[in-house]
Amino acid sequence: MKMSQQEGLGVIVEGFDPTSDEDVRQIRSAVYRDKIVVLKGQHLDPREFLALGSRFGEPATYYEPIYHHPEVPEVFVSSNVSDGEKQIGVPKTGKFWHSDYQFMPRPFDITFIYPQVVPTRNRGTYFIDLCKAYETLPEELKLAVKGTMATHSVRRYFKIRPSDVYRPLSEIIDEVDAKTPPVDFPTAYPHRHTDETILYISAGFTQSVTDAEGVSRPDLLQALLEHTGQLDESCTHPAIHLQSFEKGDILVWDNWSMVHRALHTTTPEPTVSYRVTVYDEPQSAQ
Ligand SMILES: [Fe+2]
Repeated sequence: MKMSQQEGLGVIVEGFDPTSDEDVRQIRSAVYRDKIVVLKGQHLDPREFLALGSRFGEPATYYEPIYHHPEVPEVFVSSNVSDGEKQIGVPKTGKFWHSDYQFMPRPFDITFIYPQVVPTRNRGTYFIDLCKAYETLPEELKLAVKGTMATHSVRRYFKIRPSDVYRPLSEIIDEVDAKTPPVDFPTAYPHRHTDETILYISAGFTQSVTDAEGVSRPDLLQALLEHTGQLDESCTHPAIHLQSFEKGDILVWDNWSMVHRALHTTTPEPTVSYRVTVYDEPQSAQ
């Protein structure tokens, strides 16, 4: 197995063997050290892709079944392609800054994305390293963040399902609030595997930041998002890394350190990708 540093962020890996314990161990440390790992030349069916993810932890099945792969439900499908009459997976996923399951009591530890149908133009995923964002915060903002909590919710980005047609919007919102109530995490969150601190906020899911006295601080949330680069709609902020990929690549990243945003093609080109997400410790451990 050969690992080489990418410009800016992440490593490229050639010759990864998912059945090798040593390769898995090295990739796991690279994910936490380098944040993004690109595994080249992987040719796996959905079951094998799931098996690869399982080597790194306990796979999680997405809570909304419309995203499930028809044969392997643990595989999440993002797709704008339909199979005859039937839409497989969900189109236009994740075109906003977020981390996966940030709105849940336990977000995923590691995300694996395996592009299946790759558009010829405008392909890639944007990333921002939130550990770097915390490290580079001006002292006064670091002080202001201390002791605050951030509240995350899926409300703004919950996707209306085909079965929701003709349902009143208020009923859907009530269902979303009951099924996925907002969750709180410290705004400055210690990384479990490194000595870093994560500025754990996203423009898509973070609803508010509240200080130690319970007062909501929209000004602070705005200043923090601004600092991370997530408010730059042109996505040219120096903190933003565009990760490109080609067929056969699997992108692996540290889902706590990184927020990401899909770059969707402006042309109607077909695009399909599979995703597996895992908890790197048994769920009862947290
Ligand atoms: Fe995502």
